[in-house]
Amino acid sequence: MTRIVYLNGDWLPEAEAKVSIFDRGFLFADAIYEVTAVVGGRLLEYAGHAARLQRSTAELGITCPLTPEALLEVHREIIRRNALESGLIYLQISRGTADRDFAYPENPTPTLTLFTQAKSVLENPKVATGISVACVPDERWGRRDIKTVQLLYPSMAKMEAMAKGADDAWLVEDGFVTEASSATAHIITRDGRLVTRGLSNAILHGITRASVLSIAETAGIPFEERAFTPDEAMKAAEAFITSATNFVLPVTAIDGHTVGDGKPGPLTLRLRELYIKQKLADAI
Ligand code: PDD
Repeated sequence: MTRIVYLNGDWLPEAEAKVSIFDRGFLFADAIYEVTAVVGGRLLEYAGHAARLQRSTAELGITCPLTPEALLEVHREIIRRNALESGLIYLQISRGTADRDFAYPENPTPTLTLFTQAKSVLENPKVATGISVACVPDERWGRRDIKTVQLLYPSMAKMEAMAKGADDAWLVEDGFVTEASSATAHIITRDGRLVTRGLSNAILHGITRASVLSIAETAGIPFEERAFTPDEAMKAAEAFITSATNFVLPVTAIDGHTVGDGKPGPLTLRLRELYIKQKLADAI
C-alpha cells in the first residue's frame, strides 16, 4: 500500500513527496525529529513528544510552522489517511532551504514532514528473550539532549554492536554508560533499585524514561538517577532499555555476560506491563 505522507501542508503519495537538495536537514543535519507510537489507531505519550519537540526547536531557533493544535490534528489525520492501527509516526522539522552557508539563513521557511510506519509494537518477540547489547565508545556530539537527525554515529555504533553478534549498542563515555543507540539504558540492582542516568546534555531526555520513573514511584519501586558502569550493569539483577516503540524491553546480555539468570527480569516485565496499561488508557 502506498503511504500518504505530509509535507509542508500537503498530503501526498510517498513517491511524490520531494524535498530540495538545498534543505539544511540534508546538508547540515539541521533538523530535529520525534517518533510517537500508535496503538489501536491512537497516539501514545503525545503530550511528552510535543513538549520535547518544542524544546528541541527552541534550542536550535527553528520555528514549528504549525500551532500545537494544528500539529496534533496532522498526527490524527495521518493516522486516518493511512488507516494506521499499530506502528509509529515519524515527524521531522528542518530549518528550511537556503544556499549552502554555515551561518543560518534569515527567516527561512522550515520543512515539516511526517510519515507513518506500520509495525507491531505491543507484540515483540524480544520481550520473551531479551536483547543483547555490546558496549561501544560514545563518540556523539555534546548536545544529545536535542533530538537532531544527526544519527550517523548511533548508526555506526549499532553496526559495530551487530558485527559483534549483539542486537544493539550501549554507548560508554568516561567509563559510564550514557544510553543505547536509540533508547535509554537502565539497570535494576541486586537489592531491587532501578538505576538510570540523570538528565544532562549527555543523553536524550527520554519520554518513556520519565514515565517509567513516575510509574516506579507509584508502584513503590525505589530508584536512583545516577550513572553506572558497564561492569555494574553486567553484575546487576536486571537490565532494560526504554523508547517510544520498544516501551520497556529486557536486556539479558552485555558484552557476552549474562545479566541475572539470563532471562527477562521480573521487575522489568512488571514495569513493561504497568507502562503499557497506563499508556493505552491515556492514549489519544
Ligand atoms: N529514539 N535515547 C536516544 C539516543 C534515542 O534516540 C531515543 C529514542 C531514546 C528514548 O527516547 P523516548 O523514550 O522519548 O523514545 C533515548 C527514537 C525512538 C528513534 O530514534 O527512533
